[in-house]
Amino acid sequence: MSSTPTQKQLEREVGRRRTFAIISHPDAGKTTLTEKLLLYGGAIHLAGSVKSRRAAKHAVSDWMEMEQERGISITSSVLQFPYGKNSINLLDTPGHADFSEDTYRTLAAADSAVMLIDCAKGVEPQTEKLFKVCAMRKLPVFTFVNKMDRYGRQPLELMEEIDNVLGIPAVPINWPIGMGKDFKGVYDRREEKVILFDSEGTHGEAIVETEKLDLDDPKLESILGPKRYEKTLEEIELLEIAGEPFDLEKVRNGEQSPMFFGSAMTNFGVQPFLEAFIEMAPSPGEVKDPPVEPTRPEFSGFVFKIQANMNPNHRDRIAFVRITSGQYTRDMHAKLVREDRELKLSYPQQFMASDRGTVDEAYAGDILGLYDPGYFKIGDSISNGDPVEAKDIPRFSPEHFSVVELKDPLRRKQLEKGLDQLSEEGTIQVFRQPHLGNQTIVGAVGILQFEVLTHRLEHEYNVKVRLRSLQFKYARWIEGEFDEAKFERQDYTMVLKDKDDLPIVLFRNDWALNFVKQNHPDLKLLPNPPGT
Ligand code: G4P
Repeated sequence: MSSTPTQKQLEREVGRRRTFAIISHPDAGKTTLTEKLLLYGGAIHLAGSVKSRRAAKHAVSDWMEMEQERGISITSSVLQFPYGKNSINLLDTPGHADFSEDTYRTLAAADSAVMLIDCAKGVEPQTEKLFKVCAMRKLPVFTFVNKMDRYGRQPLELMEEIDNVLGIPAVPINWPIGMGKDFKGVYDRREEKVILFDSEGTHGEAIVETEKLDLDDPKLESILGPKRYEKTLEEIELLEIAGEPFDLEKVRNGEQSPMFFGSAMTNFGVQPFLEAFIEMAPSPGEVKDPPVEPTRPEFSGFVFKIQANMNPNHRDRIAFVRITSGQYTRDMHAKLVREDRELKLSYPQQFMASDRGTVDEAYAGDILGLYDPGYFKIGDSISNGDPVEAKDIPRFSPEHFSVVELKDPLRRKQLEKGLDQLSEEGTIQVFRQPHLGNQTIVGAVGILQFEVLTHRLEHEYNVKVRLRSLQFKYARWIEGEFDEAKFERQDYTMVLKDKDDLPIVLFRNDWALNFVKQNHPDLKLLPNPPGT
C-alpha cells in the first residue's frame, strides 16, 4: 500500500496532523490529561485512576505504565491517536521533577505546546523553564488551567501571572463558570454560549455530557445563584472590554497564548479545549519557517532523540526521527546527510494507542522510531531528495558535575563504552580533568541524570560507579588564549577538557563567573562548545 502519493494526498495527510508536547510542572495533571485526550480521541473507552501508577513514577515513563496496566501500546516518546479526521502526535516530555536535555530536544520536534497549569499553583518553576524553551523557538503555546474542580486562584489573577512571569498575554477562549465543587461549565467566548457539564454518574471515566445555554438563560442563574452569576457576567464583560483580542497570527508566532479552563479529572472542559486546539494549532504545513516544505514529495527527517536499551531483552538502540517532508514507506532508503551514506530505514516502530505495529507509511509531523546500529547522531538529517540542513537542536550547558569513581578498576573499558553511548544519547556530558590525572568528570543539566547514569551503567554495562559531586555551578567553553595553570590554581575555577579536547572552565558560583568575565574581557566564555 505504498504507492507514490499524489500532491493532493500529501497535502491532506500533512494538513490533518498536529504534533505537540505538554509542558508542565510535576503533578499538574499531565498523565491525567493525556489519558483523557485518548478517551476523547476514541482510543480508549473508559478512563480511571490507575492505583499503583504513581508509586513507580520515577522508574518508568508514565505512559509505559499506562501501557502495561491497561493494554495500551505507547512508547515513552510518542503517542499517536486519531481525533475525528485528524491525526495527533503527542510527544512525551519526561514528567519527573528533574530536567534533562531530552525534554528540550523533544520540543524541537513539536509544532506547538500545551502548557498545563494547576489552578491553585499557577506558573511553577518547571513550567517556566520549559516555556522559555518554547519561547526561544517561537512555538505556539496553548494554556490549559487544570483542576478547576478544586478551589484555586482567581482566573483573572492567573491570566495576569502568565503575562507577568512568562511575558506572554494569555487570551481566554473560554471562561470558567464557577470553581471547586461549583465548577459547572465554561463560557465559550467565540460562540457566546455556556457549555454546562453534567456531573451526574461520571467520575471522569467516560465522556461527559454537555448542554449549551445562552448567557442570559435563567437556568444558569438558578444553577449559580444570583451572586456568582453576577460576578461571572462582570468578568466576561471585563474580558471583552479590557482583554487583548484573540489573534491567530499572534498565536502562531508564539506572541499570544489561547487560554482554556477545565478539569482533566472530571473531563470538564477537555473536549472544548481539544477541539479549539486542533483548530488553532498549526499542522506541519502551517509552521513558520520550516526547514523544508512538508509537502515536498521526497522524504526527509531529523533525529531528535536517541535511546538505547529500551527493551532490556534486546540490546537495541532507537533513533527517534521527526519527519519533515514527504512520505515514509517501510524499509525505504534514504541518505544520512552528514556522511552522505545510503541507509535502509528499517524496522520503524510507531506505537498507536490501540494497536502496536510497524508502520507502513508516515508523513511530515509523524515520529519514527528507527533501529539504530550506531549510525545516527542527534540533529542528523536524513533525506531521499535534496539534502535538508541538519536541525539546530538546542544544547544546554551542564549545571551539575561529578567525578566518576570506578569501583572495579578492571571494568574501565566497559565504563568508557557506557559513558560514550550515554553521552551520545545526551544523558550526560563527559569531561576529563587533565591536571588531576585525567579523572573522568560528568556534567548534566539536571541532577537526576546522575541517578539515571549510575543505574544504567550498573544494569546495562555491568559497571558500578560512585559519583562524587563537585560544587561548581557553571561550565563555559573558552575562546581565546588563557593560562590554564593559573585558572586551575584558583579555588573558584576548575579546568577540564571536553571530548574533543577543547578547554572548558567550571565556575563555583555567579561571583566567580562575573569576576573572570571582568578580569578577562578578551576571553569569550561560551555556554556551548564553539561553533555549535
Ligand atoms: P503529572 O503527570 O503532571 O505529574 O500529574 P498526574 O496526572 O499524575 O496528576 C497528579 C495528581 O493530580 C493526581 O492525584 C491526579 O489524580 C490529580 N489530578 C489531575 N488532574 C486533576 C484535576 O483536574 N482535578 C483534581 N482535583 N485532581 C487532578 P494523586 O492523588 O497524586 O494521584 P492518583 O492517585 O489520583 O493517581
